[in-house]
Amino acid sequence: MLLSLRIVCSLIILSFINFSQAVEKLKFNKWSRYSKGDLTTLGCDWAIAQYITFCNDTETSANCMCVNEACKATYLHCIDTNSETEIIKTGAYKYFISHFCTSLDMEELLVSLKNGSQYLQNEIPTSMSEIQYTPVLTNHTIVENAIETFRIRYGVFDYGMYFGMGLSGYIALVLLFAGFNNLLKVTRLNHIIYSWKIYKIVFRNAMLLNMKRKYYYISYDNIVILFWCIFNVLSLCVNYESNGTKNVYWNSSYKQITRYISDRAGYIAMFLTNLTWFMGQRNNLLSLFTGWPQAKFLLYHKWIGRACALHVIVHSIFLLWQSTVMGYQSIRVSTYWYEWGCVATISIAIQVVWACWFIKNLAYETFLVAHIIMALFFLIGSWYHLASKQRAHWFIYPICCWGLERLTRIWKIWLCGGVHKNAIIRLEPVSDIISIKVDSSFTDKFKLAGQFAYLYLLDLDSDWVFMFQSHPFTFVFQDDGSVMFYCKVKRGVTKKFKNLLLGEPNFTKNISILIEGPYGGVSEIDISGKNTENLLMVSSSTGVSGALCHLKMAIRNKVKNITMIWVVPNTELVKFMKSEFGFLFNEKLNDINLSIKIHITREMYEHEYRIEKFANFKNIEVIYGRPDINAETVAFLDAADPNKITNVLLCSHKNIILEAKEIVDLKKSKGQQITFYDETQTW
Ligand SMILES: *[C@@H]1O[C@H](CO)[C@@H](O)[C@H](O)[C@H]1NC(C)=O
Ligand SMILES: *[C@@H]1O[C@H](CO)[C@@H](O)[C@H](O)[C@H]1NC(C)=O
Ligand SMILES: *[C@@H]1O[C@H](CO)[C@@H](O)[C@H](O)[C@H]1NC(C)=O
Ligand SMILES: *[C@@H]1O[C@H](CO)[C@@H](O)[C@H](O)[C@H]1NC(C)=O
Ligand SMILES: *[C@@H]1O[C@H](CO)[C@@H](O)[C@H](O)[C@H]1NC(C)=O
Ligand SMILES: *[C@@H]1O[C@H](CO)[C@@H](O)[C@H](O)[C@H]1NC(C)=O
Ligand SMILES: *[C@@H]1O[C@H](CO)[C@@H](O)[C@H](O)[C@H]1NC(C)=O
Ligand SMILES: *[C@@H]1O[C@H](CO)[C@@H](O)[C@H](O)[C@H]1NC(C)=O
Repeated sequence: MLLSLRIVCSLIILSFINFSQAVEKLKFNKWSRYSKGDLTTLGCDWAIAQYITFCNDTETSANCMCVNEACKATYLHCIDTNSETEIIKTGAYKYFISHFCTSLDMEELLVSLKNGSQYLQNEIPTSMSEIQYTPVLTNHTIVENAIETFRIRYGVFDYGMYFGMGLSGYIALVLLFAGFNNLLKVTRLNHIIYSWKIYKIVFRNAMLLNMKRKYYYISYDNIVILFWCIFNVLSLCVNYESNGTKNVYWNSSYKQITRYISDRAGYIAMFLTNLTWFMGQRNNLLSLFTGWPQAKFLLYHKWIGRACALHVIVHSIFLLWQSTVMGYQSIRVSTYWYEWGCVATISIAIQVVWACWFIKNLAYETFLVAHIIMALFFLIGSWYHLASKQRAHWFIYPICCWGLERLTRIWKIWLCGGVHKNAIIRLEPVSDIISIKVDSSFTDKFKLAGQFAYLYLLDLDSDWVFMFQSHPFTFVFQDDGSVMFYCKVKRGVTKKFKNLLLGEPNFTKNISILIEGPYGGVSEIDISGKNTENLLMVSSSTGVSGALCHLKMAIRNKVKNITMIWVVPNTELVKFMKSEFGFLFNEKLNDINLSIKIHITREMYEHEYRIEKFANFKNIEVIYGRPDINAETVAFLDAADPNKITNVLLCSHKNIILEAKEIVDLKKSKGQQITFYDETQTW
C-alpha cells in the first residue's frame, strides 16, 4: 500500500519535472502580420527546401542557405524574380536575414546574388535526390502557390486576432458605457441630461416606453448578451479563403476550411479565456468603475465563459476532423500539445455542463469545488498546449489574476479580523432565517449602506467542503461596531446549519466564521445621501438588511420623507429581527416624515396586532395582508416634489420590482427626478 503510494507520488513528481521543461523552454511568439515580402521569402524557401537539394549532410542542411553559396544564390534569385516591386524585394531580403541567416547583412546578399547569377543554371532540377553545386532556377508555379498558401494561412491567424480583439472590444465598450452611466449617476449629471429635449425625444418617446412595458422581462443585459452570442457565432462563420488544389499544405478546400475554422476558433478562445477570468474576479476594479453588482459580473462571466467553451470545442472538433481527413490522427494523438489540448477541452466542456443552473443547484458545494479544479485543469492543459506553440504567454494574465484574486481575498479576510471564534448563529425555525452576529469592532469601512460581505462558515463538525464556499450577504452594521447577517435557509450550507441548530438549546450556537469584505456600497451612497429628498424602500424578508442600513444613513442625513415597506411571511420573523429597529428610539425624528409599514402576508388576524416593542411607536405600522405596491408607489411619488431628488430602492421579489419599476418609468417620463435602485441579488 505504502509502496504503491510512493510509486504514484514519484510518478507524479517525475511527470511534473518532465512537463516543467516546457516552462523552461518557454518562448513567446509575438504576433506579427506577414508582409508580401515575408511571404515571398517563405514561398521561395518552400520551393527550394521541398524540391531541391544543396546540402546532403545533416550538419549543414539546417542552415544550408547561409553557408552554401549555391543555395544562398538560389534563394536570392528566387526572391528577386518573384517580387513584384522593389519594396517587396527589400522586405523579402530583410526577412531572409532576420529569420534565416542572422549573420549576414544586405551588402553580402547583393554580392552573393551578383556572383550567383554568373553561375546560374537555366533549368529547374527535377529530382530531389540530385545534389546541386551551382545556383538553379525555382519552379515559379510552386513558389506562387506557396506564397498564396502562406498568405491565406497566416491571414487566418490575423483574422483570429481581429475577431478576438473585436469581441473583447465589444465587452470593453459595454463596460465603458456602464462606467460612463455610473459616472453620470454618481455626479448626478444624469438628472440634467434627463431634462434635455433630445434625451426625451430619444429615450422617453411613447413607442420605446410602450415596448419597455410590454417586454419588461427583456433587460439591457439580455440584449447585450444576445448580440454577444450572435457576434461569437458570426466570428466563426465569415471571411474564409481557400485555394483548392493549389494549396501546398492541404490539397483541397475542404481540408483547408476545416483547419482554418479550427485555427480561428483557437485564437479567439485565447482572448475569451482572459476575459472570462477577468469577469469572474470578485475583487474587480471595474466594479468600482461601472457600479455593477457582483451578480452582473458573474452573468457576464458565465456568458463569456460559454462563448469561450464554444470556441475551444469548435477548435478541437474541427482539428480532429481535419486530422482524420488528412490521416494525421494517429501521429497527432501521441503529441504533447494534442493530449493537453484534450485535457483543456474536456475540462471546459464539463465546466459548461456543470454550471447549468439545475445541476449547479442540485449540489452547490460540489459544483464550486469542481469549478475550481476544472478551471485549474483547463489552465494547465491550455498552458502546455500553447507552450509547445510558443503562445503560453496568453495564459499569464489568467494565472496572475487568479493568484492575485486569492491573495486579495486572504488580505480582505485578514482586514476583517481573521477567524471570528465566537460568532453567534441563531435560527428562526418558522420562517427559516438564520442570523449571525459577529462581535468585533469593525472599522468605519463597514458603515456604508448597501455593502455586503462573504461569509465562510467554519465548523469543523460539518463537512470540509463547506469551508471552501463563501456566500455574499448584506449585513446590518450596529452602532457598537458589530455586524449582523441575516440569511435565508436554502439548500447546501445553510440547510446543513439549520439541521445542526435545530438540536441546540434556543437554536443558538457559537461558531467560527471568516468574513471577507466589505464589497460594494460605493455606488449606493447616493440612495440615502444628503441630496435625497424622498426615499421609498420596498423589501421582503431578509432583503430588509440593505434597507435598514439605508434607513440609518437616511435619518442621519436628514432625508425629509422616508417610507419603508417590509413584506414578511409571519410574525415570528418580525420578532426575530425587531431589535434592528431599536435604534429608532434613540433618534430624533421630529422633522422627518418617517413611515415604516410591515406587511405580514401569511397570517390573518381580525384585529391589528401590534408587536410589543413597536406598540408605542407611531412611525411603525404592522399590517396583515399583502401590500398594494402599485398604489403605495403612486401615492408616494405623487406626493413627492418632482424637482427634488427621489430614490426608490427595492430588494424584493421579481413581481414587486416589476410593478414598482413600471410606475417609476412612467413618472420619469413625465420629468420627475427619480432614480431606481434594484439591490436584489440573485446568485
Ligand atoms: C553527400 O554527397 C557527397 C558527394 O555527392 C557524397 O560523397 C557523400 O557521401 C554524401 N553524404 C551523404 C551523407 O549522403
Ligand atoms: C560564386 O559562386 C560560386 C557558385 O555558387 C561559388 O562556388 C563561389 O564560391 C562564389 N564566389 C564568391 C566570391 O562568393
Ligand atoms: C512546376 O510545378 C508544377 C506543379 O508541381 C508542375 O506541374 C510543372 O510542370 C512544373 N514546371 C516545371 C517547368 O517544372
Ligand atoms: C491530395 O493528396 C493526396 C495524397 O497526398 C492524394 O491522394 C489526393 O488525390 C490529392 N487530392 C487532390 C484533389 O489533388
Ligand atoms: C459565545 O460568544 C459570546 C460572544 O460572542 C460569548 O459571550 C459567550 O461566552 C460564548 N459562549 C460560549 C459557550 O462560548
Ligand atoms: C433560551 O432563551 C430564554 C429566553 O430568551 C432564556 O431565558 C434561556 O436561558 C435560554 N436558554 C439557554 C440554554 O440559553
Ligand atoms: C410630511 O408629509 C406631509 C404630507 O404627506 C406634509 O404635509 C408635511 O409637511 C411633511 N412634513 C415634513 C416635516 O416634511
Ligand atoms: C415630503 O415632504 C414635503 C414637505 O417637505 C411634503 O410636501 C410632501 O408631501 C412629502 N411627501 C411625502 C410622500 O410624504
